[in-house]
Amino acid sequence: MATFVRLLGFLRDYRLGVWVSGVLAVLAMVATVAIPGLTGAAISAIQAGDRDRLRLLAIAIVAAGVLRLGLTVARRLVAGRVSLGVEVDLRNRVYEHLLGLELGFFDGQQTGQLMSRATVDLQSVRFFLGYGLVLISQAALTVVFAAVALVVINPVLALISLFPIPFVIWIAQRYGRRARPALQEVQQRIGELTAEIEENVGGIRVIKAFAAEDRRERRFSHSVTRVFEQSMISTRMRAFYNPFIGFLPQLGLAALLLVGGRMVINGSLTLGEFTAFYGYLLMLLAPVRTLGWTLGLAQRATASGARLFELLDREPRITAAPDATLLPPGTGRVELRDVSLVYGEDHDAEPALHDVSLTVEAGTTLALVGATGSGKTTLVQLIARLYDPTSGAVLVDGADVRTVDPHALRAQVAVVNDDPFLFSASVHENIAYARGGASREEVVEAARRAQAHDFIATLPDGYDTRVGERGLTLSGGQRQRIAIARALLANPRILVLDDATSSVDASTERQIKQGLGAVMAGRTTFVIAHRLSTIALADEIAILDAGRLVDRGTHDELLRRSPFYREIVEKGMPDQVFLTRKPREPEVAGL
Ligand SMILES: Nc1ncnc2c1ncn2[C@@H]1O[C@H](COP(=O)(O)OP(=O)(O)OP(=O)(O)O)[C@@H](O)[C@H]1O
Ligand SMILES: [Mg+2]
Repeated sequence: MATFVRLLGFLRDYRLGVWVSGVLAVLAMVATVAIPGLTGAAISAIQAGDRDRLRLLAIAIVAAGVLRLGLTVARRLVAGRVSLGVEVDLRNRVYEHLLGLELGFFDGQQTGQLMSRATVDLQSVRFFLGYGLVLISQAALTVVFAAVALVVINPVLALISLFPIPFVIWIAQRYGRRARPALQEVQQRIGELTAEIEENVGGIRVIKAFAAEDRRERRFSHSVTRVFEQSMISTRMRAFYNPFIGFLPQLGLAALLLVGGRMVINGSLTLGEFTAFYGYLLMLLAPVRTLGWTLGLAQRATASGARLFELLDREPRITAAPDATLLPPGTGRVELRDVSLVYGEDHDAEPALHDVSLTVEAGTTLALVGATGSGKTTLVQLIARLYDPTSGAVLVDGADVRTVDPHALRAQVAVVNDDPFLFSASVHENIAYARGGASREEVVEAARRAQAHDFIATLPDGYDTRVGERGLTLSGGQRQRIAIARALLANPRILVLDDATSSVDASTERQIKQGLGAVMAGRTTFVIAHRLSTIALADEIAILDAGRLVDRGTHDELLRRSPFYREIVEKGMPDQVFLTRKPREPEVAGL
């Protein structure tokens, strides 16, 4: 019920439209209600042989019909506008809310579930608010009007023929209580199904490569069956309740024929009155049935609404503080104070970072090394405040990142990771993402520095080639170079290269670094790399081991005192094939 009331809240901005369509519905109802009355009068006129009166009544019936027609068209136009308006609002609101949520939220979500909420659930809510609500009120109004007319004509007969109505209401309520949880489960399972489809499409390369089509197919058909079974439960309920709700008033009809018919025979009721009465009772039956299925609509909307509110009620945890400031002036001094981070909600879990304290002076380059899973990516993500530390603080140019507006912060921190995402847009747009409105010259300049210009020039439409989904597929190394160009274009204070050159060959990497040498000047750079050539580029090197900062120093210092670092240099990281050939690369290290 609370969900239902909250759903009505979405209509707040459309109060006028709702009122207007309500008034139109009432007026149309008056016209509708007039018709059986006029018909009854016409029958009396026939019996009395009054031709003039009969003609007049026929005209009145047409007039009432035309009036009703006009009012109904107007009402539908107004209600349709309300419905679509609610849809626009809801879509924008859900999408805006989703975008506002922090990265940590998405870690724990299935994309398909979110998609299903943003489409299927949204649809059922707006359909109900736009149409269902009006239909329900119209049906309820019809019932009330017709009932009043019945009582006016003959109270005793009205009592007899209306006796099934309380039972109808009781059954409808019972149905509602049972149907809602069942429907909510249907929506949930549809969400699972969407998630399954999304994974199958997204993971199609892996599925094909491992010839896992059959397995996926079985999983999928399992999900389909789950939806089917749950929908069957709902359908079975509906199959029973709906016709039952339609059936009960028929009893009233039979009672009317029996009792009212006798009254006409006795002469205590005119045939005209009887016809009018019968007309009103028939008029009452249709909306009772409508009420049956629109209540189903209401159930579904409430179930969907509950799922939408679950999403909308999830407060974003990384937001701008009310007194958030811009980043103070500086060139990117980064300080981590006793930072620990536990992913997820379970605070007893093993932290991904453990009391890390680290200061990186503005304008210097720090290389982060460590085994896979040691927390390197986690550490650099804290600088852009993609996650908040569980304890401790991260400071950029002296300001705690939690006190800075996240947008202002992120404009100054550019992160390039090992598997960069490209939007389905042109190469130019993908690079210009960092700064909307960047000119072609600026984009080309950034691409040159990232060693991307040459290969972009060979693409069919150069910088206007569409890439990403439904576009040209680029190789991993090409994507990385575009992502580096994107980061360079942002001209950030802090540049984070997280395995950003892992997919490019050694000679391209050297070229990128020659380009980077110039751009690294005057900004703080974090590089995460497995190649010694890249590591040697840094002023200092920090070693992470299982979330702890175990050592930090220059290449020479670490070579002297850290057995772990010596091992890296001597044996190389596992992916160091070229290292054994060219262990030092002095020309690069000298940048
Ligand atoms: N979004 C996340 N949710 C939960 N746990 C995570 C998440 N990201 C990373 N982890 C865990 O945190 C630990 C550190 O991961 P991180 O990605 O920082 O390692 P890394 O040093 O960057 O490794 P690699 O060299 O393989 O990139 C790992 O144990 C990982 O399983
Ligand atoms: Mg990583």
